[in-house]
Amino acid sequence: MRILDFGSLNYDYVYGVDHVAVAGETISSYNMEVFCGGKGLNQAIAAARAGAEVYMAGLVGEDGQLLMDICKRNGVDSSFIRKVPGISGHAIIQVDKEGQNSILLYGGSNQQMTREYIDDVLGQFGCGDILLIQNEINLLDYIIDKASENGMRIYLNPSPYNEKIKSCDLSKISVLLINEIEGGQISGERDYDKMLDVMQEKYPETDLMLTLGEKGAVYCCRGKRYRQDIYKVKAVDTTAAGDTFTGYFAALMQEKIPVQEVLAMCAGAAAIAVSRKGAANSIPIRDEVNKFCLHK
Ligand code: RIB
Repeated sequence: MRILDFGSLNYDYVYGVDHVAVAGETISSYNMEVFCGGKGLNQAIAAARAGAEVYMAGLVGEDGQLLMDICKRNGVDSSFIRKVPGISGHAIIQVDKEGQNSILLYGGSNQQMTREYIDDVLGQFGCGDILLIQNEINLLDYIIDKASENGMRIYLNPSPYNEKIKSCDLSKISVLLINEIEGGQISGERDYDKMLDVMQEKYPETDLMLTLGEKGAVYCCRGKRYRQDIYKVKAVDTTAAGDTFTGYFAALMQEKIPVQEVLAMCAGAAAIAVSRKGAANSIPIRDEVNKFCLHK
């Protein structure tokens, strides 16, 4: 089973701060590091590190060579990634002493998708293939429509959630991967069981993967709900923890592993990512996750 991740590739400028700056405040940072990230890239690497056959499609700017290289180094096929004039997407990330973050995105080349490029890439995929997408690129609605016409199963992580998601036909989504806040925005509910009830009724064909931060995760599939707790670790940097969970989930669901085991491994992978700095580089390989889960 092939996974095509059509998404963003970013340079992450990560600043260590005492606390995240509030409106009108100027603060100093005590260090700054640059990492490769972007929800698309992170999820592709997570799926590949989990053992899946992964293809990345997306656009980088003239400065994007490192972003392409990190895909290759991690076994992600980068042959669909194109370089376009201008600069790559980037993120300004503040990480506080508890490892919590605040992210400001600049779309750059991630916002230059064209219908022609999308048709070109999706023309190489079809029935039996998985499309993994997030909301950091333009023409998301078009990608969903085309992939669905091609018979692909679509895994959508609609982060960051905004107005653009409203133009997407979510009934075409096979698996919707959302956090508590996004679940509230889509369903209008605050209680997570109610969120799932509303969304299940609206999108009966769609499986729902709801992550709840400290409260773990719930997977809702064909009327059944599977719950998973988090593994508690000392948080160093929570960036890409959600992407790690999502990428692992997309990969492991293609194997014949019981759902509850898949969820435990996704939680283990995310816990390891939280205990490390950075985005793509913080994602563990499958062996590390197996060992971590065995010892818990
Ligand atoms: O989910 C984390 C990612 O969000 C970061 O790597 C950053 O680039 C933003 O896309």
